[in-house]
Amino acid sequence: MRAHPVIIDCDPGHDDALALLLAAGDPRLHLVGVTTVAGNQTLEKTTTNALRILGLAGVTDVPLAAGCDRPLTGELTVAEDIHGVSGLDGPELDVPAGAVAGVHAVELMRRLIADAAEPLTLIATGPLTNVASLLRDHPEVRAGIRRIVFMGGSTERGNTTPYGEFNIVTDPEAADIVLRSGLPVTMIGLNVTHQALATTEVIAEFRGLGTRAGDVCAELMTFFAGTYRRVFGFEHPPVHDPIAVAHVIEPSIVRTVTVPVAVELAGTYTRGATVVDLHGRTTGVPHADVAVGLDVDAFWRLLMTAVRHVGR
Ligand code: BDR
Ligand code: CA
Repeated sequence: MRAHPVIIDCDPGHDDALALLLAAGDPRLHLVGVTTVAGNQTLEKTTTNALRILGLAGVTDVPLAAGCDRPLTGELTVAEDIHGVSGLDGPELDVPAGAVAGVHAVELMRRLIADAAEPLTLIATGPLTNVASLLRDHPEVRAGIRRIVFMGGSTERGNTTPYGEFNIVTDPEAADIVLRSGLPVTMIGLNVTHQALATTEVIAEFRGLGTRAGDVCAELMTFFAGTYRRVFGFEHPPVHDPIAVAHVIEPSIVRTVTVPVAVELAGTYTRGATVVDLHGRTTGVPHADVAVGLDVDAFWRLLMTAVRHVGR
C-alpha cells in the first residue's frame, strides 16, 4: 500500500493535536511536513505545541516549521477562552528537544512540494494564512498540490461571530485566496464537525487505551469539554480538525457536494462567513467540495485505532 503524502498546516489547539496524532498513527498517510500558523494561540505557542504533540507521537523525522504570525490583514485574536493560555491547556506535556526548521513554513512547504515524487495534499486545520501565502508567492507549486482540505467555515452558522467560523474569521482574505485558487479544495465546516462530539464514553475509551497518547487525548478533551460547556453551553466538545485528516484517509467518512463557496470579506456583521450556495441560487460556478455528512462511528473508530498505534 502506498501511503498518501500530506503536509499538515495547523495551530494546535486541542483538536489540531488530535489531527496530528491521527496523521501520525494511521499508516495510510505519509506525513511529509508539519507547519504552524498563528490562530488558536500565538505562533510561538502553536509551534511549541506542535513540537509537543510530535514528541508524544514519537515522530522525529518529519520537518516542522513556523509560519505566519498574523493574518494577511488586521490583527490576530487568539482563542484563549477555548484553548487556554498555552493553546493546549490540560495535560502536562514536555517540550522535546526536537528542532524547528530554520526556514519559514511557506518556504518549507514550497521545498517539500518541489521535491516530492508525486503531488501532495495540504491539510489545513488553522487559519489559511500560510497556505494562501504559498499560493500567492509561489504559484509554480500549484502542479505539485493534489488538493487542499481545510477545516473551516460552515454551511450554517458560525462559532466566532454569528455567521463566521474561527479559522475563516481569523483570516478571511487568506480563505478567499484559497477558495478562488482554482485548485481542488474541500471545506470541512462546523455543520459536520459539530457531529463529532467527545462524549464521556469517548474520553473513557481514550483512557482505556492504556497508553500515554490515550491519556493525553483524554486530558485534552476533558479541558476542551470544560471550555465548550462554559463558552457555548455544549454538553460535549466537538472535535473539528481530525475530520479533515480522516476524510483524506477514508474519503467515505465525509459526504461532500460540489457547490460555489464565497468568503464574505466586507459584511458589517458577517465578515469571514462562508457563503455556501447549496441550492444553486447564485451564478457562481460549483468549484468547492463541501462536507455535508459525517459517518460518526467510522470517524471515531479511525481516530481510536490511530491513537492506539501512535508511537508504537
Ligand atoms: C476551529 O477553530 C479552532 O479553535 C479549532 O482548532 C478548529 O480548527 C474550529 O472553529
Ligand atoms: Ca485548529
